[in-house]
Amino acid sequence: MQTRTLVVDPFDPDPALIAQAGDLILRGDVVAFPTETVYGLGASASNARAVGKIFTAKGRPATNPLIVHVASAREVDQVASEFPEMAQRLAERFWPGPLTLILPRAEAIPRIVTAGGDTVAVRVPRHPVALALLRAVGVPIAAPSANQSTLLSPTRAEHVLRSLSGRIPLLLDGGPTPGGIESTVVDVHTDRPRLLRPGLIPVAQLESIVGPLALAAGDSVPQGPDRSPGLSLLHYAPRTPLECSLDGWHRAQHLLAQGRRVGLLTLSTRPVLPVLPGLMVLELPENPDDYAAGLFASLHTLDEAGLDLIVVSWPPDTPEWLAVRDRLRRAIH
Ligand code: TXA
Ligand code: MG
Repeated sequence: MQTRTLVVDPFDPDPALIAQAGDLILRGDVVAFPTETVYGLGASASNARAVGKIFTAKGRPATNPLIVHVASAREVDQVASEFPEMAQRLAERFWPGPLTLILPRAEAIPRIVTAGGDTVAVRVPRHPVALALLRAVGVPIAAPSANQSTLLSPTRAEHVLRSLSGRIPLLLDGGPTPGGIESTVVDVHTDRPRLLRPGLIPVAQLESIVGPLALAAGDSVPQGPDRSPGLSLLHYAPRTPLECSLDGWHRAQHLLAQGRRVGLLTLSTRPVLPVLPGLMVLELPENPDDYAAGLFASLHTLDEAGLDLIVVSWPPDTPEWLAVRDRLRRAIH
């Protein structure tokens, strides 16, 4: 299969191009498209065969459920059997946007989407291309990140192609995705809300609406039988071994002295580093949102550079870095 790429204006996508993508989805095929977080690989959520193509293209285990995207909160009843009051308050505040809610599954959603479970993940994306596509098809779209399973999420069209070229019929190229990391996932299907995956929305903002979130205090990957399946470790990882260090520069020098080729990802605030053979340095802004926006793109670049090892300097262990530290922890191997 040849993957076709259509370049679309991320702010004002051409309806004719969106219609081409929409036709494919309505005919039961898959399409990669930009959201405000990362690129997604979408299929009609009520079509089990189409959703199966997502799992095949990604090599995704059937035990990992998908997020279903809808055009507005009014369409939640097509996906979920209940929309609890607490969930509605979160939706009102953060949709469209990078917040995914776990709700009871509606009959219309086949079990392949939810990995056999009775809950479903739902969100309304903010990206104009994603919204235009949802409105054009008029049905919910199931879409995980558009990368091969366990590898880094894609924030640019070229990342999607590197992972899925030849495995999907169409990619809508809307340029770099602004958010850079995946949506915040909150489980609101019981009375006790739980943070399953930190993201760009600060925990304090969520808690101001729903009260204390379980698992919100620690900056650790949730463990236990009821964690989100996609939260297993070794997720979002580059192929090159990656480690995090409190003093990345020190660690990188040590590895260089052993004759290894090292990539160093560090905050831009530190003093300018000398140019050394075997060392590739990338810097990211010290603002957590700007850092998140560039994180996966930087890791993709380092991963493509033929290095022996990637060293990342840990950003501060403070609440505003929760989501970035979570993604770094999963990239370690
Ligand atoms: O920003 C995003 O969320 C992107 C864009 C494309 O929307 N999507 C994304 O999908 O990151 P994916 O499949 O890479 O991650 C979905 C996460 C996984 O951790 C999965 O386990 C969790 O959501 N999830 C999905 N359905 C769930 C459910 N019913 N219960 C608990 N966790 C669920
Ligand atoms: Mg993913």
